[in-house]
Amino acid sequence: MNAPGTPPAPVLETKMPKVGTTIFTVMSALAAERGAVNLGQGFPDFDCDPRLVDAVADAMRAGHNQYPPMAGVPALRRAIADKVARLYGRRYDADTEITVTAGATQAIFTAILALVRPGDEVIVVEPSYDSYIPNIELTGGVAVRVGMTADFRVDWDGIEAAVTPRTRAILVNSPHNPSGQTMSDADMRRLESIAVDRGLFVISDEVYEHMVFDGEPHRSACSYPALAERSFVVSSFGKTYHVTGWKVAYCAAPAALSAEFRKVHQFNVFTVNTPVQHGLAAYMADPAPYLELGAFYQRKRDLFRAGLAHTRFRLYPGQGTYFQMVDYTAISDLPEAEFAKWLTTEIGVAAIPLSAFYAEPVEHGIVRFCFAKKDETLGLALERLSRL
Ligand SMILES: Cc1ncc(COP(=O)(O)O)c(C=O)c1O
Repeated sequence: MNAPGTPPAPVLETKMPKVGTTIFTVMSALAAERGAVNLGQGFPDFDCDPRLVDAVADAMRAGHNQYPPMAGVPALRRAIADKVARLYGRRYDADTEITVTAGATQAIFTAILALVRPGDEVIVVEPSYDSYIPNIELTGGVAVRVGMTADFRVDWDGIEAAVTPRTRAILVNSPHNPSGQTMSDADMRRLESIAVDRGLFVISDEVYEHMVFDGEPHRSACSYPALAERSFVVSSFGKTYHVTGWKVAYCAAPAALSAEFRKVHQFNVFTVNTPVQHGLAAYMADPAPYLELGAFYQRKRDLFRAGLAHTRFRLYPGQGTYFQMVDYTAISDLPEAEFAKWLTTEIGVAAIPLSAFYAEPVEHGIVRFCFAKKDETLGLALERLSRL
């Protein structure tokens, strides 16, 4: 209530008129309310390695509790640079080319803020992780959406046709959320040639880099020299070490790009919590946890797919991530969001409609399940889904 004579408080006109409560929040709330098995939002229902918790607790007890350097704890940046060099063959300078961020979401937004000026266009592959387009629009940029092909591969001809003189960057994600598809060597070479020929930057969201199946390697933008030169490569410890709530990730980029990235980072979060960074640095000394992650999730994918094979869901192929897309059109003709709600309330399993990954409503008759769950959770979900 205003004091008499005081002008009313200003009305805050939204800068993000298209953004409301996301379907992820809606589905998680509905799943909790109905006691449904939550295969919706992408996070594990099992805990991380206790050695990682010990490493962080040790760092706290050792007094690593004040601000670390702006770009991240040096030991962690060195561990990241070593890992990237070993796996992808490019040696980033830990001092000038690796920046630790508060999650991949912050890293991607920071790269966009550093790159995109009002009116610049950024090409985004749809379906896409939900932060990309709002991030681009908040900078005054224009998100140019290019749909994937019918079998959920990147449509390179479509991307090439979408490049204009205003295009500043292409944002790619492999392994891809929500499809679970991974980019092949041919995909990466096509990306490289388009980016080089048209003078574009690349933001490469590789948060699921260690979840690649069937003996295939992860193809990182770091491994392609002309691509690496123009790329911000982002990965997330949340995904790799089953600690999505810790929100610690990193961006690897050549020094000139990292310098601009850090200017934004410095005045956004400035830095990221110290003990977790020390704990991660110590834990990374053993490569086994990230090297074994592919096999760990491949087993869960196979278990989940084998169970779904007895239902009327049609399974899409997936070579990475912890997501499985299914076509439900043999079961129901409801729109995706309605089907996801029905599945949660009537069958007791929550999923995310594919339409949540598009800026404008589009219906494919597909939902996405997350299989980063204990075997018993997957077993319970499959028991319920077996009625379909
Ligand atoms: C493709 C993709 N990028 C980025 C993120 C965000 O990662 P973080 O939790 O580290 O911000 C996610 C999380 O679901 C994701 O699926």
